[in-house]
Amino acid sequence: MIEQLNNLKETAISQIKEAKNADDLEAVRIKYLGRKGEMAKVMGLISSLPDSEKPAAGRLINQVKPLLEEEISKKQKSFTLAEKQNPQSKKDLTMPGHRFESGHTHPITQTISDICAIFRHMGFAVVEGPEIETEHNNFEALNIPLNHPSRDAFDTFYIKNEFLLRSHTSPVQVRYMTKHKSPLAIIVPGKVFRPDAVDASHSFMFHQVEGLMVDERVSLAHLRGVLFEFCRQLFGEDIKLRFRPHFFPFTEPSAEVDVSCIICKGAGCSVCSQKGWLEILGAGMVNPKVFKAVGIDSEKYTGFAFGMGVERIAMLKYGINDIRLFFENDIRFLEQF
Ligand code: DAH
Repeated sequence: MIEQLNNLKETAISQIKEAKNADDLEAVRIKYLGRKGEMAKVMGLISSLPDSEKPAAGRLINQVKPLLEEEISKKQKSFTLAEKQNPQSKKDLTMPGHRFESGHTHPITQTISDICAIFRHMGFAVVEGPEIETEHNNFEALNIPLNHPSRDAFDTFYIKNEFLLRSHTSPVQVRYMTKHKSPLAIIVPGKVFRPDAVDASHSFMFHQVEGLMVDERVSLAHLRGVLFEFCRQLFGEDIKLRFRPHFFPFTEPSAEVDVSCIICKGAGCSVCSQKGWLEILGAGMVNPKVFKAVGIDSEKYTGFAFGMGVERIAMLKYGINDIRLFFENDIRFLEQF
């Protein structure tokens, strides 16, 4: 066995020395050190040796293996060095490296960060809430009781019992006000879910940004001022705003807010269906019933809230006519942003 090992060592070393290139060397390495190689075979034989010979054989194996590994690595280095020094080498070290395609943020993510940046400059804090909500936060605390007709439009995917995928970002109002009380000014970006059939303007999942400001003497004028400044910064200086009376259970009074069409500047075109106006968000003064649900004194404090659809804003801003484009991951679309 000892003799066999010594022979094996000699032949292996001479074959390593003779290797002419990296491929040869790899073949030798596999032949001797591979999982089913010569060394492994010899090791398998140890158990059949008489006990008296086992320690010496074991010791020798432990010497030969690292020795061969070292010879192989030396030889490898000599190949690399030769390659570097060889003027005929096929490798051109002056060639530029491989360029990796670096991706960029998705247009929806970009739009969310543009929106948040504008509000942050006005002093709003950006906060987030969970996508799985309680029925209480999504509905009841926002003054949408079980049998209220407006629940239909918001109704959503139930998970089990009282848990559901939130159908709007408004429940984060409830979470935040319950914990922090007044005064506060927050903006809440996030995903929302509705069992809507998918078409060019609907998706079962989309994004919203919710806004909420509560303090003493907050008025509708503050809401208008904040939204006007936001629209001016997002869409341009010459934008006009219009508040149309509307109904939301969690605000009173409520309004839908339109901007003058950013394509035709109000003259009427196909994007605004000849109306000159584009609806961009819902808003209003926080309903005292919501304050009651979160434990804020509605005699002392007032607040405004608003909610906008991010896809809709991005579609208007970039002139995109189909919401599905955002979610199909077609690189030809995404590359344009
Ligand atoms: N939650 C509403 C929706 O999903 C949007 C909304 C309207 C939010 C008015 C508000 C608001 O905070 O005041 O359609």
